[in-house]
Amino acid sequence: MTVHFIGAGPGAADLLTLRGRDLIAASPVCLYAGSLVPEAVLAHCPAGARIVNTAPMSLNAIIAEIAAAHAAGLDVARLHSGDLSVWSAMGEQLRRLRALGIPYDVTPGVPSFAAGAAALGAELTLPGVAQSVVLTRTSGRATSMPPGETLENFARTGAVLVIHLSVHVLDRVVVELVPHYGPDCPVAVIWRASWPDQRIVRATLATLETAVGAEMERTALIFVGHSLGAEDFDESRLYAGDYDRRYRPVGTSPRFPESA
Ligand SMILES: C[S@@+](CC[C@H](N)C(=O)[O-])C[C@H]1O[C@@H](n2cnc3c(N)ncnc32)[C@H](O)[C@@H]1O
Repeated sequence: MTVHFIGAGPGAADLLTLRGRDLIAASPVCLYAGSLVPEAVLAHCPAGARIVNTAPMSLNAIIAEIAAAHAAGLDVARLHSGDLSVWSAMGEQLRRLRALGIPYDVTPGVPSFAAGAAALGAELTLPGVAQSVVLTRTSGRATSMPPGETLENFARTGAVLVIHLSVHVLDRVVVELVPHYGPDCPVAVIWRASWPDQRIVRATLATLETAVGAEMERTALIFVGHSLGAEDFDESRLYAGDYDRRYRPVGTSPRFPESA
């Protein structure tokens, strides 16, 4: 018996890995975080599977469900939105499972920041403009930020910021970022990336609050950085004709010659 933690992707049901799909199909129990995991993903559960929405449950109740499946020798597919490496609450579940001696494995998923960048048609790391991406958030009702992890500190680096769980505090985000990125810095907010009702607003730090208006939906990411919409950037050296690299040493015949 194994508990399979599976990243269920950002929303679109076909942004699930093949491994995730196959594990769901092979697991007679499925626990899913119902607030963001798309119901369509549950269509992969086998007939007669026990399917439980864990959104209203406590950690104790979730672990009790898993322990019951373990006692019955039944594999569990445990679904969280996006990828499991960020804001999934997987860590606390794994710690409990280790203490109970219950085996688990982890299958990655498409994170929402990647779905958001895809919807924007954006490479975030443009040569000469930005080479780092910070996935961060602001403090919330249930979670405070460690002292050094302020927007201001990240902004000092000039990296592209992808700010989660913060669209309801846009005013604070703007005030903290303008001194570092400038009022003209491009910004994009994307709600429900990859869902059918996805929505995108592009603005600058100065115009962001007006552009967003009174939108209430909170499943959103705020992208901030000079690589958004930039046209004035260097080309990657990787594909430069005179760049000598392991797979295409200068002066040798190409391994896959271009057809005429
Ligand atoms: C609890 S976190 C889950 C993050 C998830 N594990 C991931 O890999 O992106 C929820 C937050 O992620 C962001 N988020 C998740 N799915 C999203 C989507 N499809 N579009 C935009 N933002 C999303 C929002 O900021 C939301 O408030």
